[in-house]
Amino acid sequence: METTLAIVKPDAYKNGYAGKIIDRIIEEGFTIEEMKQILMTKEKAEGFYEVHKERPFFGELVEFMSSGNCVVLSLKRENAVAKWREVIGATNPEEADKGTIRALYGTNTGNNAVHGSDSAENGIIESNYFFKE
Ligand code: RTP
Ligand code: MG
Repeated sequence: METTLAIVKPDAYKNGYAGKIIDRIIEEGFTIEEMKQILMTKEKAEGFYEVHKERPFFGELVEFMSSGNCVVLSLKRENAVAKWREVIGATNPEEADKGTIRALYGTNTGNNAVHGSDSAENGIIESNYFFKE
């Protein structure tokens, strides 16, 4: 079984989609190992997206992720990382396949409703970042 970290980002939370997204997680065969609602500090968001700290959108990304409540979930499933990324769709909701979470609930590349880990290793690192503090 593989672990991935999912986040319902502040846009999706504010727009009332947290419940629908959690339903979808269960429908897609994931087990929710851990789940909590949080309001990230800027420092917490900076640490989470540290790999992007040299990117031009970093400041905006940190502002956004600390702008409102999120739901963070540690998920388990066979092939969890690739499966969750398939379910959420492309980073830009306009390019995301029909029926994916970002196509359904995302607005633009910055406000794209959800996060998904990009490797099995990061799935564990990111889950520990929120659940082993
Ligand atoms: P995530 O990490 O949030 O699951 O998203 P991702 O893997 O699909 O995309 P990534 O390249 O890791 O980027 C992280 C988040 O940064 C924002 N972003 N903005 N304005 C831009 O050009 C831009 N590019 C990326 C997005 O919110 C993206 O999810
Ligand atoms: Mg990423």
